[in-house]
Amino acid sequence: MADATDLKSVGLNGPCRFESGHRQARANDTKRRTREKETAMKVPVKLSKWFGAKDRPNDVISLDPAAEVELERVEKLYGIEDPSCLRSAALMKALMIHRTQPIYAQLTTLKRKYSMLHTDVLAVLYYLGKRTEGNALEIGPYLGGSTMATAIGLRASGRPRAFVTVEVGGEGKHPTLRSRDIVQDLKQNLVDNGLSDFVEVVVGPVLENETAARVFQCLPARSVGLLTIDADGEVQTVLDLYQELLRDICWVVIDDYYAVAMAKEKAARTKLQVDAAVAKGDLEELGFYGWGTWVGRWRRKIAA
Ligand SMILES: C[S@@+](CC[C@H](N)C(=O)[O-])C[C@H]1O[C@@H](n2cnc3c(N)ncnc32)[C@H](O)[C@@H]1O
Repeated sequence: MADATDLKSVGLNGPCRFESGHRQARANDTKRRTREKETAMKVPVKLSKWFGAKDRPNDVISLDPAAEVELERVEKLYGIEDPSCLRSAALMKALMIHRTQPIYAQLTTLKRKYSMLHTDVLAVLYYLGKRTEGNALEIGPYLGGSTMATAIGLRASGRPRAFVTVEVGGEGKHPTLRSRDIVQDLKQNLVDNGLSDFVEVVVGPVLENETAARVFQCLPARSVGLLTIDADGEVQTVLDLYQELLRDICWVVIDDYYAVAMAKEKAARTKLQVDAAVAKGDLEELGFYGWGTWVGRWRRKIAA
């Protein structure tokens, strides 16, 4: 039988370690209960912050009441205060999946270097480029972020596809993505990223006949399955002018359906036109991504 010395050598003399363990557990338990009690007592104070108590000098979690009113106004304006707007799961599912894949890191780099769009929108363009049928037409590439996301999607589809992007050119004064010559930078970026063979850049104002004639030379009638519009807020006129190029069902991505600051005016025009086209049944709404990009489909009306 082991004596006291033996027990000491293995750390078991004095009060039994299980005994002391229990005591410790009891002490911990008491501490925990006291902490819980204190927290419970604090809850009404915390809640009072959510409900607009005046005395909250260091409060960082509650919303400014004016901001709350503005949010409610915008939610009503955009019809998202009603749970019935929750539909169109497939694209969201695609985005959820792409976000976890290495392509998303690539698109994040693309976004940082060349695009005003949110990486989620670049992921949607990549996905649509890969999955849609037919050719692609883009209005407003700027430095080519959206263009390259689409192009790598088209390339990933493994099918030969034509892709035309229309840019008016000039100087770009974006705060973080400046350009002295948009068209020159766009073309150089496509070359630098090995994508110049996949994209035809048509230079000119999208609504001018000369520009349209060049686009019509590059793309056969009823061949475009993906149309991206991110130029100056003209949506209906672009659809009217280029609809002969669109397939009977064509995916459409339109930026600045919602925007603040610099793009606010463009968004006001865009929203008005998109909503009217949706109401007429020309466009079908399928989702909103990034900072305010509309995604949906254009449908040809077949005469009865
Ligand atoms: C908001 S930027 C596009 C951003 C780009 N999609 C991206 O991924 O960052 C709009 C672009 O459309 C071009 N643009 C504006 N009005 C145009 C027009 N009427 N015709 C053709 N391009 C136009 C501008 O020069 C600019 O490059």
